[in-house]
Amino acid sequence: MNTSPTPPIPSLPGQMQVISITAPGGPEVLVAGPQPLPDLQPDQVLIRVAAAGVNGPDLAQRRGHYDPPPGASPLPGLEVAGEIVALGSTVTKLAIGDRVMALTNGGGYAEYAAVPAGQVLPAPANWSYAEAAALPETWFTVTQTLVMRAGLEPGMFVLIHGGAGGIGSAAIQITQILGARPIAIVSSDDKAAYCRRLGAVATINRTTDDIVQAVSTTTAGHGVDRVVDLIGGDMAAVNISACAPGAHIVQVSTLEGTSANVPLRQMMAKGLTLSGSTLRPQSAATKAAIAKRIRDDLLPALAKPGWVRPSLSNFPLARAAEAHRLMESRAHSGKIVLLTDFGAAQDPV
Ligand SMILES: NC(=O)c1ccc[n+]([C@@H]2O[C@H](COP(=O)([O-])OP(=O)(O)OC[C@H]3O[C@@H](n4cnc5c(N)ncnc54)[C@H](OP(=O)(O)O)[C@@H]3O)[C@@H](O)[C@H]2O)c1
Repeated sequence: MNTSPTPPIPSLPGQMQVISITAPGGPEVLVAGPQPLPDLQPDQVLIRVAAAGVNGPDLAQRRGHYDPPPGASPLPGLEVAGEIVALGSTVTKLAIGDRVMALTNGGGYAEYAAVPAGQVLPAPANWSYAEAAALPETWFTVTQTLVMRAGLEPGMFVLIHGGAGGIGSAAIQITQILGARPIAIVSSDDKAAYCRRLGAVATINRTTDDIVQAVSTTTAGHGVDRVVDLIGGDMAAVNISACAPGAHIVQVSTLEGTSANVPLRQMMAKGLTLSGSTLRPQSAATKAAIAKRIRDDLLPALAKPGWVRPSLSNFPLARAAEAHRLMESRAHSGKIVLLTDFGAAQDPV
């Protein structure tokens, strides 16, 4: 097998605009500038990026708390949508000109990104590039954790923290597609309304409601069968109290505490499972398996009439710092997306 990088493609520019992290810090460390295009490995495709999604892990990387795995681009950006402009020598199932969305291993905040072919999905028909770029990172995360690891089944009640954010929105929609019942936790009436539009059967306002009591009322005393938690800290005990027997809690972040006092007797009595995972360091094979599951079981639902697409806040790529400030303000619902000049010509900002 040929393992050397594919030689430069003559029709492509030598340089591209990117957003670099100049030092660990606040949004101001995100700086625009030129860089050579990435090398293309045999199993990768080169995507002319139209839009790049902004995700919680980008903020953590910018702050210096989430380093790229070995071999990954040091540029931020874990998801993109755009057009394939070059194929690595071993790629067979994709073609130049394909309109795609992809989970990257880094390097999405750029005009071109090299992505393993197994992490590329077709952009949904009639979706803008911005809408497509908003999907991969959160859908891969939720599919890996809630669907594949925790075995989500139809009819289950799923408690979803941060319901109006990127992970939360994905969890609501994936839960609904698979015939289970999402209960979203939010901090405002506006975010509650957004989650209901996405498919939440009930919402809980964490600033005014008792979460355990509200879960008990909504589930007629049953409790929730699955929990998607990104809060951590004191929320761990709340989750356990809200769980039904045999429930599974998936921990995808620890926004309010990396450690917790866990009521172990209650966990034992209820027979609970608590699992944790981060997506980025997973192997190419694991990411390809997640992509297959999304393509086979979830993407068909997006073509159905009335499918609700996520709310978007769009920024030009060069204004990535403003996009990070918005995410840190927690004022947004849905996803934040960066558009390159190529993308802005098709999806106006
Ligand atoms: N494990 C993985 O592989 C993986 C993958 C992707 C993301 N993540 C992590 O998941 C977390 C969420 O990412 P995201 O892209 O969904 O972010 P996001 O769009 O900003 O959503 C976060 C949501 O959580 C709520 N929230 C509650 N307490 C919060 C707090 N203390 N700080 C921030 N938000 C809080 C926010 O709304 P309210 O404040 O209104 O409640 C917001 O709706 C991040 O920490 C990210 O690193 C993990």
